Order: sequence, then structure tokens, then C-alpha cells
Amino acid sequence: MYLPQLLTRAEKGEKLCALTCYDASFARLLSANGIDVLLVGDSLGMTVQGHASTLPVTLEQMIYHTDAVARGAADLAFVVADLPFGSYQKNPEQAFDAAARLMAAGANMVKLEGGAIMVETVGFLTRRGIPVCAHLGLLPQSVNVTGYRAQARDASTANQLLEDAVNLENAGARMLVLESIPSVLADEVTQRLGIPTIGIGAGPMCNGQVLVLQDLLGLTPKPPRFAKDFMRGAGSLAGAIANYVDAVRSGGFPGAEHSF
Ligand code: KIV
Repeated sequence: MYLPQLLTRAEKGEKLCALTCYDASFARLLSANGIDVLLVGDSLGMTVQGHASTLPVTLEQMIYHTDAVARGAADLAFVVADLPFGSYQKNPEQAFDAAARLMAAGANMVKLEGGAIMVETVGFLTRRGIPVCAHLGLLPQSVNVTGYRAQARDASTANQLLEDAVNLENAGARMLVLESIPSVLADEVTQRLGIPTIGIGAGPMCNGQVLVLQDLLGLTPKPPRFAKDFMRGAGSLAGAIANYVDAVRSGGFPGAEHSF
């Protein structure tokens, strides 16, 4: 699927359903069961590789997983690949070299973390034909600075996030992930922007939702507050995914208990 098709769905008011995905068999299963966006997240450092954070994930590993996911998705779903830690922060040229390799592996868009500091890079990639998804709020690649905790909970950090979101959109970002921020702030950002917001721990008012696949399947030993085990009572993998899609589209997920 190409970007215009995805954006048309969001413009029609359809909630976008996203899940992380790291291999071809799940890419086939998720795309066949209504998932719009497959995020080849660098969360694979934790879910697949067993690390404590996303920091050890390399560009070569992201390319390997993106290639597998894109083949499994077979153009049915939209594939977003994370730029891993250290592959894009130095300057826009470094980001372009890494992003071009992910796009060549089959990504339809790349995702990068950060606010003001990433505005120039987002513009640089966008002008060169690479669609960019920005990521604000809890930034897992900055865990050594922030820890894993909800962000933008006071007026000044909330205002900063809102300003960053507007600047990233103006620079060309075509989608925005909002992670672990208050629902009211996610709602405000969603209303202000013309591009779709995808929430994870950001309440029900975003244009779409994303979860880490292993959280949805109940495989995470200590799941975060915003996760829900959709495998419980579902009977099959396909059933769990269909339940997630129904819950996101109907507004049943996330509930207040998954939000900040
Ligand atoms: O890597 C990942 O799984 C992500 C999600 C948390 C949005 O970036």
C-alpha cells in the first residue's frame, strides 16, 4: 500500500490500526486480518533479541527485518521501518543514507524519534522522496535520559511537544507517533495537525493506535500500562488480531485504564 491510500483512510475518519511486526509470517497474518500499518519497530531489540532497550539494534538488523516484513505484507499493508539509534542523529545526510537502505529493503516510510532537533532532517528526507513518521513523547532511544515513564505531563513540556509536532508537520512529516503522553494532550495535537497521529499510551483520540505485537499476544512478562492482552479468550492468533482491529475501530481500545 502507498501513502496516499493510507492517508485517504485517515481522512475518511477510519481509525488506523497498526502493530509492530518483525517477520514475514506475521506480516502475512496481520495484513490479512485488517492491520493497516506494520511497524518494523526497533522494539525488536527487546521482543526478538532479548535486550533491555532498543539501543543495541543495528541498521543491518533493521534492514533484514524490514525486508522480511515487506515480502510478507506483499503490498497489502503499509510498512514503516524504524531508523535505529545512532543511524540518523548525526546529520541529515547520515539519516538519508540509512533511510534509503530501509526504503530499498521495502519500507514505505521511515520513523525517527525526536522533536526540534529532527526538524531539519525530516525536511531533508521528505524533499528527497522519503516519507517520514515522527515520534514524540516517550522516546525509547532516549531511555538513558528519561527512563520508561510518561512524558509531557506539565504545561511547559506539553507546550513544547505541541510546538514540536507542528514544526515536524510543517517540515514534511506525514504521520506522528505519540507515545505515553496525557490523553488530553494527544487530543490537542491530533486536532491541531493535518497528518494522522498514531497513539501508544496516548488515549483514544488519536487517528490510529499501535501496539507492540508481543504485548497484544500476552507474551510480555511485565506489560506496560497501555498494553492489552488480546489473546485472552480469542482462541487463535487471527482472532486476537481481529479483536484488536474491532476494538480500535469502534473506539473500545484504549480505555481509561490504558491511558495517562
Ligand atoms: O519500536 C517500536 O515498537 C515503536 C513503538 C513503541 C511505537 O516505536
